Amino acid sequence: MVIRPLSNNESPPMPLLLLADPSEQLVLDYIQRGQCFVAETEGNIVGVYVLLPTRPKTAEIVNIAVMPEHQGKGIGKQLVQHAIETAKQQGYQTIEIGTGNSSIGQLALYQKCGFRITGIDKDFFVRHYEEPILENGIPCRDMIRLAQDLS
Ligand code: COA
Repeated sequence: MVIRPLSNNESPPMPLLLLADPSEQLVLDYIQRGQCFVAETEGNIVGVYVLLPTRPKTAEIVNIAVMPEHQGKGIGKQLVQHAIETAKQQGYQTIEIGTGNSSIGQLALYQKCGFRITGIDKDFFVRHYEEPILENGIPCRDMIRLAQDLS
C-alpha cells in the first residue's frame, strides 16, 4: 500500500470522503483549502485524509476515512501516522483532530497515535447537523478536540 498526495488531474474520492463527513459542501471546501492524501492498494483508493492548515503553525486532520471493507486492517493508523509525519516535515508545530463523543474507535485510534484530549466543543453536532446522530448506542452531541505537539 502507498500513501500519496492526490494529483491535480485526479478527482477526489467523494464517496470515501463523505464517510467521514456527510456534508458535501464542507468536504469540497476542505479539499480546496487543504492537501488531500490517498492510500492506494493494487490501483484502488482505499483510504483518504485531508491535512488542513488552520491557525499559524497548526494543521488539522479532517475527513479521514477507510473503505468499510478495508477497515480494521491498520490503514487508518497508517494514515494518521502519515499525517503526523507530513505535518512535521512541513514545519507545523501542532497537529489537531476532532471527533464525536460517541466515536469510541476513533478516540482509541487517535490516542494510540499520540493525540491528547484538549477540549470539548459542547453540542457541536446538535448545532451543525439537522438529524440526531446515534453511534455505539450513544447520542453524538459533543466534539472532542485532540492535539499533539510536533516539536
Ligand atoms: N477500543 C480500543 N481500540 C480500538 C477500538 C476500541 N473500541 N476501536 C478501534 N480501536 C483501535 C484498533 O485496535 C486499532 O489500533 P491497533 O492498531 O493498536 O490495534 C486502531 O484503533 C484503528 O485501527 P485501523 O485498522 O488502523 O483503523 P481503520 O483502518 O479501520 O480506520 C477509521 C479507522 C476511523 C478511519 C475508519 O474506521 C473509518 O473510515 N470510519 C468511518 C469514517 C470516520 O468515522 N472517520 C473519522 C471521522 S472523525
